Parts: sequence; C-alpha cells; structure tokens
Amino acid sequence: AYPFYEKLRQQDPIFAMSHENGQTSWIVTKYDHVKEVLKKSSFIKDQSKFFSGSSDEEQSKILSVFRNMMLDVDPPDHTRLRKLVQPYFNPKTIKNLEPRIAEIADELLLKMKEKKGPIDLINDYAFPLPIIVISELLGVPSEDRDKFRKWSNTIVAAVDNLANTFEEDVTAFIEYLTYLFEERKDNPGDDLISKLIQAEEEGEQLNKDELYSMIVLLIIAGHETTVNLIANTMFALFEHPDQLEKLKEDFSFIETAVEEGLRYYSPVDFSTARWAEEDLEFHGKTFRRGDLVLASLSSANRDEEKFNKAGDFDITRENNPHVAFGFGIHFCLGAPLARLEGKIAIEKLLIAFPDIHLAENTSPPQFRQVFLLRGLGVLEVEL
Ligand code: HEM
Repeated sequence: AYPFYEKLRQQDPIFAMSHENGQTSWIVTKYDHVKEVLKKSSFIKDQSKFFSGSSDEEQSKILSVFRNMMLDVDPPDHTRLRKLVQPYFNPKTIKNLEPRIAEIADELLLKMKEKKGPIDLINDYAFPLPIIVISELLGVPSEDRDKFRKWSNTIVAAVDNLANTFEEDVTAFIEYLTYLFEERKDNPGDDLISKLIQAEEEGEQLNKDELYSMIVLLIIAGHETTVNLIANTMFALFEHPDQLEKLKEDFSFIETAVEEGLRYYSPVDFSTARWAEEDLEFHGKTFRRGDLVLASLSSANRDEEKFNKAGDFDITRENNPHVAFGFGIHFCLGAPLARLEGKIAIEKLLIAFPDIHLAENTSPPQFRQVFLLRGLGVLEVEL
C-alpha cells in the first residue's frame, strides 16, 4: 500500500473513485489535507442525512449499536457522549493503571518463558494484554473475555464485508451485554460499565442505545488497534536490527520508538468515514453533498513534505506529529492508554527476552487485508 499512497500523493492527492450509482468517494493522502478533512465541520459522520430508509431497517437493534457510537455521531451528541467518558481516559487517570499493566505483562511473559519452540507474539502477548486491561477497566469478568475476541473480530472484519457471521455475532454480543448490564445493576462496582449504567438510569447524559454503543465501541476500539501497535512496532524493529539494538541499549528511547511505530506502521490505515455535508470545493476538487471522504492516516504519516526521511524507521525521531490517533474532535480517546500499554509491553518484552528475533524457517509475516486497519495475522518469534 505504501508505494501506492506515495504515487497518489505525487500524482493525484485527492483521488476520486466513481461508483455505478453516481456517487463519488474520495481518498485524501497528503498530511495537510488529511488534517483539514478531520478538522472541518462540513465533513460529518451522520450519513442518515443523505441516505435513509434502507431495507436493513428491520435489523434496527444491530444498526442502532453502530449509529449511536460516539465515533459515528456529530456534535452536539458527540460532545455530550465524549464528555461522559473523557475523565476515565485522561493521561493522569490512565497513569494510575501503570502498575497493573506491568503486572499483566509480567504474567504473560512468564507464561511465554514456559513454552517451547516458536511463539506467536500476537496470540500470546500483543493480543491478551490490551484485552485484559480494557476488560478490567470496563468490568468484564475474566472468564468471558475470550468471547469478545470473536465478536470484536467479526465487527472489525464487517467493515470489509469479510464476516458472514456478522448478524449472529453482533446479536450474541448484544445479548451478552444485556446480561452483563443486569448483573451489574444488581452488583454495581467501581468499573466503567457500572458508572455508565448509573448515568443511563439517571436519564440525563445518555440513553439505552447509546449505553450499548459506548461499551461496544470501547471494547472494539481498544482491541485490535493496540494489538497492532505492539505487533507492528515489534515487526518494524525486527526489520531494522540497528534500531532494535539501539533501543535495547538505551530504553530512554522507548517513548519515541512507540511514536515511530505508530507513524511507520499506523494501526489505523484510514480514518472512519466522513461525508460532505454540502457541495464544496476542496483544493481544486468539487465535492458533492453526500460524497464519502476517506482520509488516509497511513499515507499522511509517510508524507515526505511533512516528515524528514518519511520512509525511514527512526526510533529517535523527535519531531513526530503523526496522525495515527486521528485529529480534531474524534481524536482517539484511548491514546494515553494505548501509548502506555505500548511502552510497557515493548520495554518489558525486550528486557525479558533480549535475544528475541523473528522465527526462522517460517514464511515472512504478512499484513492482513483489512481495509481500515493495518495488522499482522501472526508474528512468529523465537525467544
Ligand atoms: C478514535 C486510533 C486505541 C478508543 C480513534 C481514531 C483513531 C484511533 C484514528 C479516530 C477515528 C476517526 O477520526 O475516524 C487508535 C489507535 C489505537 C487506539 C491507533 C492504538 C494504538 C484505543 C483504545 C481505546 C480507544 C485503547 C479505548 C479504550 C477510541 C474511541 C474513539 C477512538 C472511543 C472515538 C473518539 C471520538 O469519536 O471522539 N482511535 N485508537 N482507542 N478511539 Fe482509538
């Protein structure tokens, strides 16, 4: 994908794709343009303004889960929903989780030590770590966590119409949440789900559909992306042994290394959809009301006009204003958490296994073909 983005940035940075139904979608690839799309209030999230009454309307319960996500709504609803959860994700609040994240990492590393032969770093480390963290934060019982993997994968894959179990899995997910909410109502705890249920019952800040959507969003948004941050950064380090050595020699580079991992192999390839609210001119192109606009975060983060030697992976890069977490009002709520998890996970892994390297005699790791996200299917290593 990267050579393709480079070509687009040079030859046609606001690229039009025409569809049979007369609709046009745009792929925006330059750093400055991407930020502009994400910032401009005339690029909105709510597509029901243009398209309504689809035949899928009967699946309203399923659709309402997606329609009411803070990620997919505009102000003023967005502002209200974001305000409700923001305090739980501030850097200061998140910093308190550091000892527990470190403990979870240690437990996983210990289990890895006991294993023989090559290890899939994703399955045994990059995946369980963020799941355990987000589940504990939300208050999902540990024995139920595995179920979330399947549902979450389905929902992520559904963006690309890859999942044929979509309806079944989302229904199961909603049923499970209904059960969990009932259980939590009877035994409220200190967790975020209990607090959001309370907010819903008080009836002012969010309604029932929004409550479901919020939990689904927090689970999905915190799953796949952070897994990809850890795995993609490790992969980049394996691909650049000099950088790996540099980091092992001096862990004061861990923060800039994580930022560089986010920039170089951005876990979210494209921002989620924006729609042109009205006809408008955008750097010489004419967008029509209802056109789909996709901003490529991956491409922006490799833009040579913004980043010095953009194609190099440099863990000491200081000026690194990447847009891997998006930009503007939908800027990733979980960024402080993801950064902290990435930092702890990678540092602890390299301290525990200083000789860790890609497994020999296996096929090279491959990025999966999921449109919005960039992640490896497996990352086989030897310790
Ligand atoms: C939004 C990336 C981890 C929760 C976003 C957006 C991006 C992003 C690009 C904006 C999408 C858009 O504008 O269309 C990432 C990356 C992560 C990560 C790269 C890991 C490396 C997390 C975690 C959580 C989280 C751990 C929380 C548990 C959210 C939420 C939103 C969001 C709730 C919606 C915010 C809003 O609409 O105001 N994320 N994310 N993310 N992210 Fe993350």
